[in-house]
Amino acid sequence: MTDPLAELQRGHLDWLEQRYAETLSRLGYDGVLIFSGQPALHFGDDQHASFQAYGHFQHWTGQAYLTHSWLLVCPGNLPVLYLHSPDDFWHLPASLPQEAWTERVEVVKGRFDVPPALPRGRYAVIGDVDVATAGALGADPNPEALLMALDEGRVRKSEYEVACIGRANRQAMAGHIAARDAFLSGAAELDVQLAYLQASRQRESQVPYGNIVGINAHGGVLHYQHYDTLPPKKQRSLLVDAGHRYHGYCADITRTWAGGQADEVFPPLIKGVAHIQQQLIAAIRPGVDYAVLHEQMHELLAALLVEHRIVLGSPESAVANGITRAFCPHGLGHLLGIQVHDVAGRRAANGMALPPPDEHPALRLTRELEAGMVVTIEPGLYVIPMLLDPLRQGPVGREVNWERVERLAPHGGIRIEDNVLVTSDTAKNLTPEAE
Ligand code: GLY
Ligand code: MN
Ligand code: MN
Repeated sequence: MTDPLAELQRGHLDWLEQRYAETLSRLGYDGVLIFSGQPALHFGDDQHASFQAYGHFQHWTGQAYLTHSWLLVCPGNLPVLYLHSPDDFWHLPASLPQEAWTERVEVVKGRFDVPPALPRGRYAVIGDVDVATAGALGADPNPEALLMALDEGRVRKSEYEVACIGRANRQAMAGHIAARDAFLSGAAELDVQLAYLQASRQRESQVPYGNIVGINAHGGVLHYQHYDTLPPKKQRSLLVDAGHRYHGYCADITRTWAGGQADEVFPPLIKGVAHIQQQLIAAIRPGVDYAVLHEQMHELLAALLVEHRIVLGSPESAVANGITRAFCPHGLGHLLGIQVHDVAGRRAANGMALPPPDEHPALRLTRELEAGMVVTIEPGLYVIPMLLDPLRQGPVGREVNWERVERLAPHGGIRIEDNVLVTSDTAKNLTPEAE
């Protein structure tokens, strides 16, 4: 049976060819050479850091781990993939999968630690390329107008890309279920991480971002980066933020679970944050301003904090006085695609990149939603002492029930994150339910 993805992939390539042809012609280029990139060497050492290929290289090939390879796109001709695949008895030389896209490129195998020569004409070279290399090629390195247009071309996903994100989600969810089960059977953070990797079938160097596996108070460290090797004395909570990559496309999912020794204040708050998330997903449709959704998240969090007597004042004052921002300092979410924080989330009308708004400095997406965008929706609620302590000492400290905050603190925090497609009139959640 043929994989239905093959046909979708052909459609994706048709679209890419057309988009590149229009963009290159508008900007006066005969073609663009896209470098996959190369892994960094640890200083003074002969060992490399883990690697992922440049997003625009993956947009065509879905190949996240091909190093030193180049794709030459000249509209009107087959793209040429210069596949770095030198004879090597230390490593297995790179090879390509049999997919629809490999029938649509000419493949030249060889040694490409230096770029291939370009035909005559005006070219751009994009990716992690230095000016000297570009100069030797006679090509413009990373021209801003071209990068802006190509980034914009990644914002609305093709059917193929959505299907890939869906598959990445299914793999990731298998990992989340195994992570939960490992935790509930008494595992340490490292064991939870290993259970996740095993069930989602990926090695640690291939995850789209470092898995966040926080037991108890570690769940309150937004990008907690360690894995304790010993199980906790008390099993209160687990927060796992972990994904998967399928043909280059990422899943980015977070789940929070209560342990057997959770305080009774904690499980209803997990339900409350999950409910907020569902309300926000239900509000998604084309034309909705994502920054407004982010503000709605704060209003809903304020109502939840009041309902659970963590905040004693009004919900309005909890938002206005920055209480909800201390409990949730990150943004509601971001665009998702080849990069977990995908490109072009903040753009002015003329296409230029914008900084985040002053009042929401961590918000990565401030655009109006459009059909084809895939976004994360990830409300959170945390006890972060460095943010809450200044509130406690100031005048709004009276509005917070610190006794309940203290009971919550050893659980760290809650985040629930799903990946959502904006459709022509509503939204579709690409993240499957955990069974
Ligand atoms: N995993 C990082 C994030 O959720 O944005
Ligand atoms: Mn995310
Ligand atoms: Mn995440």
